[in-house]
Amino acid sequence: MATIMFVDDEAGIRNALKRLFADSPHNVLVAASAAEGLEHLRANTCAVIVSDNQMPGESGIEFLYKARQLAPDTLRVMMTAYADLGTALNAINHCEAYRFVVKPWDNQELVELVNNCVLRFELLNSLRLKDEAIYSSLARAIELKDHYTRGHSDRVVEFSMALGRRLGLPPDTMIHLQHGAMLHDCGKIGVPEAVLNFPGKLDSDQMDIIRKHPDWGGEVAQAAGMHQTTVNIILYHHEYYNGQGYPTGLAGDDIPLEARIVAVADVYDALLSDRPYRKALPPDVALREFLAMSGTVLDPLLVKNFIEIVNEKKLEDGVA
Ligand SMILES: [Fe+2]
Repeated sequence: MATIMFVDDEAGIRNALKRLFADSPHNVLVAASAAEGLEHLRANTCAVIVSDNQMPGESGIEFLYKARQLAPDTLRVMMTAYADLGTALNAINHCEAYRFVVKPWDNQELVELVNNCVLRFELLNSLRLKDEAIYSSLARAIELKDHYTRGHSDRVVEFSMALGRRLGLPPDTMIHLQHGAMLHDCGKIGVPEAVLNFPGKLDSDQMDIIRKHPDWGGEVAQAAGMHQTTVNIILYHHEYYNGQGYPTGLAGDDIPLEARIVAVADVYDALLSDRPYRKALPPDVALREFLAMSGTVLDPLLVKNFIEIVNEKKLEDGVA
C-alpha cells in the first residue's frame, strides 16, 4: 500500500481531500503545516505529496524544497488557490515539482494525478532493484493490464534476441536488448485500463494518452538509472523509420538500432495477436501487412533479416 500526503493549513481542505481518497487503496496522511509535513516524511515513505503554497510559517515551495532533500523520489505536486504562473515556475524550478494543480481542483483529475504519481513511484523503485525476476513480473503485470497481449513481452524478447544474434550484437548489448524488449511497454503502467482495452477506434484524446507511454516509461527508466540502450528501447519503440512515429519523430538510423529491432518484433507479434479493436490476422495477411511496413514504419534491412529468420524457422519446423 502506498502512502500519500496532503499538506494544507485549512482544515476544510484537508478533510475534503481525506474524504476524496477515503476509498482509495492508499494510506492517506495530512499535515497542517510544512513542519508537520516534514515530520511525517521522516517517519514514512511517501509516494506523493500534494502541498498548498500559501501557509503560515514556511511556504509550500520551501516545504517541497526540503521534502526533495529528504525524500528525492517522492513526487511533489504544488496546489495553489489561483493560477499563478510565477509560483508554478518557481515550484517546478526550485523543488522540481512534478505537477501543478489549481484550486478548486477537479476531483477526478486529482485522483488520476495522484494514482499516476503512485504508479510512477512504484515503477521507479522496481526498476531500480535491477533484478530480472522483477522486470519479468512487471512485464506480466503490463500484460494483465493490457488484456490482449498475454505472452506478448516474451515473444518480443524472443524475436528481438533472434534478430540481435543474427546481426552479431555484442553480449552486453544483447542483455540490454533483452531488458528493453521485456520492458518496452512499461509506460503502459501509467495508462488507464479503460483506454488500453477500449473495444473500438480510439478518439484523439485517448490516442494522446496511449502515445504518452514511451515517454512516461523512458523517463522513469532513466530516473531509475537503467542502461541507456534499455531506456532508448522504451522511449523509441514507436518511432517510424520514415520519421512519422512518436514520441520524437526520429527517422532512419537516427532511431537507436536496438529500438528499431524491438519495433520489428513488437509489430510482428501485434499483427499475429488479437487486439481490442480486431482479431488476430491470418498468417498470410499478417505477413503481407508486415512487409508493407518495410521502409515506412520499420527498418527495411531489419525486416529482411527477420523474414529470413522466420523462413529458416519454418524450415526447421518442417512447415514450409
Ligand atoms: Fe508500446
